[in-house]
Amino acid sequence: MTPGAVTVRVPATTANLGPGFDCLGLALDLWNTCTFTVKPGEVRVEVEGEGAGHLPVNAHNLIARAFFEVYRRQGQLLPVGVRIGCENRIPLGSGLGSSAAAVVAGIAGANTILGSPLTLLDMLRIANELEGHPDNAAAALFGGLTVVTSDSTGFPMVQKMDCQPWQVTVVLPEFKLSTIQARRALPEQVFLRDAIFNIGHSLLAVEALRTGDRELLFRALDDRLHQPYRLKLIPGAESALQAARSLGAPAALSGAGPSIIAFPAENPEAVQSAMQNAFREAGVASRAWTLKPSFIGLITEFT
Ligand code: HSE
Repeated sequence: MTPGAVTVRVPATTANLGPGFDCLGLALDLWNTCTFTVKPGEVRVEVEGEGAGHLPVNAHNLIARAFFEVYRRQGQLLPVGVRIGCENRIPLGSGLGSSAAAVVAGIAGANTILGSPLTLLDMLRIANELEGHPDNAAAALFGGLTVVTSDSTGFPMVQKMDCQPWQVTVVLPEFKLSTIQARRALPEQVFLRDAIFNIGHSLLAVEALRTGDRELLFRALDDRLHQPYRLKLIPGAESALQAARSLGAPAALSGAGPSIIAFPAENPEAVQSAMQNAFREAGVASRAWTLKPSFIGLITEFT
């Protein structure tokens, strides 16, 4: 065993699940793997798979930034060098939590090397501060379906909920939409009636996923706080959502988009192809996955 060599695996996540804006997250069985080796030299990030050739390979890489942030917060001298080897399966800028996965990987890598002084909740607090919203990070850390918010001091409160092992079809259009752009499209103030609508729908969405009531989920995924603004930014997204719904599958924007998720009862291929056709008709190519929820989150091991 090489001292200081640690491997972390972090799952993809879909956030919001319609009405649960910034509060709901679901971990999916699609993983990034990062191996951290502390040794004299420089900061070097090697990326295979998604993002290879695009992501920074030096200290500007998000994983490296999160890694060093933990050293700083723990009052530790920064290591003289680290090699971070990544095998990425989570597509970038997709709405599947790739940046939360990077932040969680960096935090968890440093934490494990430092002897695990941080709990999952401590790691979530750091991820929230780096990311600006905790929903993807909560699901990535804890796995399964998570509800997260903060208490009045800003400390995260998180609960992992029971959830059906239903298939989740994800369709990712080839269209660039950063989370920053997608958040800028939102109003700063909302009507009380819309907030009430979303609170009720979120509670019912969690209950539907817990008990396996797909008809309830179909209705509960409606949202008034973010989807109406964001779907308009993505060509074909509204039609793709409706295509899934017309086949009876509950559907929502995944996180800030541009992916759309659907929960097909059966025949995920038909739902997937209807959604991809809708994007194609809007002139947008797409990629698709049919995934299962992951009931486990972050995995760390010495390698
Ligand atoms: N809850 C965040 C948002 C998720 O919708 O902006 C970003 O992936």
